[in-house]
Amino acid sequence: MKTFLQTLFSGEVPATLSAPLAGVSDEAFQRILRDCNAPVISTEMIPTASLAKHPKGLPKILRWYPGIHPINAQLFGYSAEHMVQTIDLIRYLQPDIIDINMGCPAKKIFRNAAGLALMNDLPRATRIVRAVRSSFSGPLSIKIRLGVQPGDFRAPDFARMAESEGVDFITVHGRYRTTYSQPADWDSIAAVRDCVSFPVIGNGDIFTLEDARNLIKRTGCNGVMIARGLLGNPWLPGRIDRFFRTGVIPPEPTLQERLRVFAQHLDYLIQQYGERKGILIFRKHAAWYLKGFRHVSQFRRQIFTLTRPEEFYKLVIQIVLNDALNPRTD
Ligand SMILES: Cc1cc2nc3c(=O)[nH]c(=O)nc-3n(C[C@H](O)[C@H](O)[C@H](O)COP(=O)(O)O)c2cc1C
Repeated sequence: MKTFLQTLFSGEVPATLSAPLAGVSDEAFQRILRDCNAPVISTEMIPTASLAKHPKGLPKILRWYPGIHPINAQLFGYSAEHMVQTIDLIRYLQPDIIDINMGCPAKKIFRNAAGLALMNDLPRATRIVRAVRSSFSGPLSIKIRLGVQPGDFRAPDFARMAESEGVDFITVHGRYRTTYSQPADWDSIAAVRDCVSFPVIGNGDIFTLEDARNLIKRTGCNGVMIARGLLGNPWLPGRIDRFFRTGVIPPEPTLQERLRVFAQHLDYLIQQYGERKGILIFRKHAAWYLKGFRHVSQFRRQIFTLTRPEEFYKLVIQIVLNDALNPRTD
């Protein structure tokens, strides 16, 4: 029988992974992605230092909907010991992939020598990878950027290190510690692809099926990871996967499907957090879901004042009607 990794990197069909998104990839989002046929789903990054210090806090800290597979559990931290302790704590959830975050530029994390700061410290990164590899025999990946300072291209060294330490694949986000205003550098991702023999996943600026196909063509990567493209569009990874498999562009989700997922996402959030907090969190998702409708900008402010599920449903009907009744004139 083929292992999960053999299936993921079958050779002909590029893999499609959904990215970890802090503040977004909670249980509700994992369930929505599963409902929309995303092939591989990620947890939010899991704080290994907090869990190592407060293992009893696990139920509160961990946002992981049990039973969703394949699931990529992303860990962040600065200590090999913390990573290994965390893996022991989450083993019962049977992660299909353990991923080590070496790309998060957030100040709080970078200052603590974790996330992207690890790309300034190859020996520490190597120690972490070695320790995790010896405690977890399943699929292991690391997620990196091109480097820290623009032009200081360290990704090839990290990719080679990962390969020689027995990591199974690597994801490369084609940016340095720069903002999204700069496009992802797919040519540098291609250079990383070329310097190792194990699978490389390309990440950065995939919002459409064509973007996914172009990244694969341009870089020769073994798969794509989608991040911001998931926001308000949880169907994207499933559609990309189908496109990769068949070469045929699958239909866009119907209006009925879009409304169903909109309501379902709110419902999942309320199940997870209770009504008050669930609704507060849903506001940003609602704005993302509704972005595609015409003339929606006039409703944007209103979305952020809604306090009851029924208000979201009413507003969405108003927006859909407004879209239908006021075709674009340009
Ligand atoms: C809101 C948000 C949260 C993110 N959280 C994480 C995270 O927890 N772990 C991680 O490795 N990357 C995180 N990222 C980075 C993305 O996974 C991805 O590498 C980056 O956004 C580039 O992909 P994109 O151009 O498709 O968005 C986050 C990005 C965003 C926008």
